[in-house]
Amino acid sequence: MRILFIGDIVGKLGREAISTYLQKLKNKYKPTVTIVNAENAAHGKGLTEKIYKQLLREGVDFMTMGNHTYGQRQIYEFIDDAKRMVRPANFPEEAPGVGMRYIQINDIKLAIINLQGRSFMQDIDDPFKKANALIEEAKQVTDYIFVDFHAETTSEKNAMGWFLDGRVSAMVGTHTHIQTADERILPQGTGYITDVGMTGYYDGILGINRDEIIERFITSLPQRHVVPDEGRMVLSGCIIDLDKEGRTKRIERVLVNDDHPLE
Ligand SMILES: [Fe+2]
Ligand SMILES: [Fe+2]
Repeated sequence: MRILFIGDIVGKLGREAISTYLQKLKNKYKPTVTIVNAENAAHGKGLTEKIYKQLLREGVDFMTMGNHTYGQRQIYEFIDDAKRMVRPANFPEEAPGVGMRYIQINDIKLAIINLQGRSFMQDIDDPFKKANALIEEAKQVTDYIFVDFHAETTSEKNAMGWFLDGRVSAMVGTHTHIQTADERILPQGTGYITDVGMTGYYDGILGINRDEIIERFITSLPQRHVVPDEGRMVLSGCIIDLDKEGRTKRIERVLVNDDHPLE
């Protein structure tokens, strides 16, 4: 099985990057399943039903989310019917949506788990304990388990990678929007990358217009985030190949922009 995972799609340019590059990436890599992080897909915060459906139409098979899951009010109306989406599993039980779902790919069931970190983030339930519980549940069904760990610090993501080694097929990190060059296969066969990076406006700061962000750093005053509709695009992701036991045999970063054109 070959997984194409694409990191945080930010706003209109992020969606445009999917329209522009996804089919080309599919032609090049021939993934069996395409998973994207969609927590920033609508104006940089959250996801609408229209965009959820649009991404599926464009060839995305499954979406993971993060701290911006509930950024659009609409989500409350469609999240229960959105069978191709998970939100961080360690949100309190009362939060709508689920944190693990299975997707059938040919004769294999792939469990997709979304977790969220707690260092410099919202104080939610323990992602490590939640991971244990979900892996135990998923192992009854399949050896193919994919985890998107949406977290701020490299250390928490590193810790989760080692904690999951040998128990899940792969763990990718999301949320920081900057791709890290540390993709590897951990000793027990779990594919790992600290952060796959984001998909959207290339000349901004984490996909957001840079002027207001720089101004905030200089003045310490609050500034409105502007998600540009026009400009150069970047797409960040990774390719993960799994063997017959559900272990990673290859992990490769994908980065597409004017400095790293798609060949
Ligand atoms: Fe994000
Ligand atoms: Fe995030």
